[in-house]
Amino acid sequence: MDAFEAIQNRHTVRNFTGEEIPKESLEKIVDAGRLAASGNNLQPWDFIIITNKDIFAYFAQSTDWVTKAAAVIAVVMDPSSRWWVEDGAAAVQNILIAATALGYGGCWLEGVTIEREAEYKILLNIPQRKRLFTLVPLGIPADIPKKEKKSFDQVIHWEKF
Ligand SMILES: Cc1cc2nc3c(=O)[nH]c(=O)nc-3n(C[C@H](O)[C@H](O)[C@H](O)COP(=O)(O)O)c2cc1C
Repeated sequence: MDAFEAIQNRHTVRNFTGEEIPKESLEKIVDAGRLAASGNNLQPWDFIIITNKDIFAYFAQSTDWVTKAAAVIAVVMDPSSRWWVEDGAAAVQNILIAATALGYGGCWLEGVTIEREAEYKILLNIPQRKRLFTLVPLGIPADIPKKEKKSFDQVIHWEKF
């Protein structure tokens, strides 16, 4: 799958078969996050690959479908960089596109993560000075819902708005 196909085929997946993703694939997906653009090339990120279902049980208290994920990627950012939010977003998007290219699916799970950040930081042994930017559950899609997108003509402008 080339880059354009992966971008077109990426959809948020919250329904997984429960099957595993091989370790090499998980590493390849997360490595795509490592290679994202970052402000001043500071690369203010760390990634935790979580496959322990006991940990999933904590996440599932708010988001029950996480239990069928094969892995959950915790994207950890260093907020001392001025661009840590933008950089985190770039890394997550790379992860989601890479997962799609390999035939997997995932979800940018930020709402609940922010609400329970303090608790999850302790659970995952994340240093106090870092931020847990988001969780990204990944798995083999059981179904792939396709969201309506704005059309090209609605959002593309040439030369001026
Ligand atoms: C910044 C951000 C935060 C998100 N947070 C959540 C979330 O907390 N829970 C969730 O189920 N989906 C979350 N999503 C996924 C969006 O709901 C999803 O991307 C959107 O509905 C568009 O669907 P698509 O990804 O299939 O194009 C988030 C996406 C982004 C970009």
